[in-house]
Amino acid sequence: MTTAPLTPFLRLMDRVAPLLVRRSARARVREPRAVDRSLTLVVREVRPEAEDVVSLRLEAPDSGALPPWRPGAHLDLDLPSGRRRQYSLCGDPADRTCYRIAVRRIADGEGGSREMHALRPGATLRTQGPRNAFPLALTGVPCLFVAGGIGITPVLPMVRAAAAAGADWRLVYTGRSRATLPFLGELEAVDGARTRVTVRTDDTDGVPDAEELLAGTQAGSVYLCGPPAMISGVREAFAGTGATGLHFERFSTPPVIDGAPFEVRLGPGGAVLSVPADRSALSVIAEARPGTAYSCRQGFCGTCRLRVLDGEVRHHGSEAARRTDDAMLICVSRAAEAGGRLTLDV
Ligand code: FES
Repeated sequence: MTTAPLTPFLRLMDRVAPLLVRRSARARVREPRAVDRSLTLVVREVRPEAEDVVSLRLEAPDSGALPPWRPGAHLDLDLPSGRRRQYSLCGDPADRTCYRIAVRRIADGEGGSREMHALRPGATLRTQGPRNAFPLALTGVPCLFVAGGIGITPVLPMVRAAAAAGADWRLVYTGRSRATLPFLGELEAVDGARTRVTVRTDDTDGVPDAEELLAGTQAGSVYLCGPPAMISGVREAFAGTGATGLHFERFSTPPVIDGAPFEVRLGPGGAVLSVPADRSALSVIAEARPGTAYSCRQGFCGTCRLRVLDGEVRHHGSEAARRTDDAMLICVSRAAEAGGRLTLDV
């Protein structure tokens, strides 16, 4: 076989093509670059909204436009003490000049809400986000929103979006008394609220059960934010409705159910900590190491992910948040066996 002489162009391609192939192969395996979503925000206003509830208006230090968000999104806030807490955005997504969050003061809580209530205009906070683990999908089906107390914060922008889109929506809003329910006035101003919003308070209507909250739901989606007992009740009762989608967000850590005690070793040769049946590895590790990173404490954000050097894990939470087989989400995952020991890369 004879080979024809190469033209100058083909000679150039002959030299360059292998380099291009190697470059594109490298590009294909390159890891996605992590996006830095951290911001420093200034507290511009603190307003009482209900008994033990304040809202905070947060702005960029230069009052510039903030990253966009959609209903259901939240911010991770680093508090002055180093605690990290999540708060749903409850303002207007179209207003890019500020974020609004609301916080109920929990007198006997871990201290985060008390710290938030002590903030005054001018204070600065480091934040991450906004991120959305509770997105609203207005797909033309009816939407039932259920909010318990401060659980109204992600739901309020959802209700406004549903009303603006002309969707078929209803809201059931519950709490101890009207005085404890934030944003009642804003809800009443939403188009159609008079017939679509039901406010139920324990002091006049009694504590509702899940069937009452879901009454009349024959199709569509349910969006739910409230305390753990409300969420587990609605999850159980949901199958008895004609609705097809249940979306929920907790505003406090779910209790550990059916847990067994196990141990974690903090690095090879490191300290061994006992994790009791009713606590998470995260809560035990964070006690020993206060700087331990976490955010959602529900297994979906991936902030608490740690590499497992030894031991069998019973995984819980989102696989996407865990990312690799040799990692675990310490907020929700446990040792596979009661009494087992996991060595973690900390
Ligand atoms: S803290 Fe979010 S996954 Fe563990």
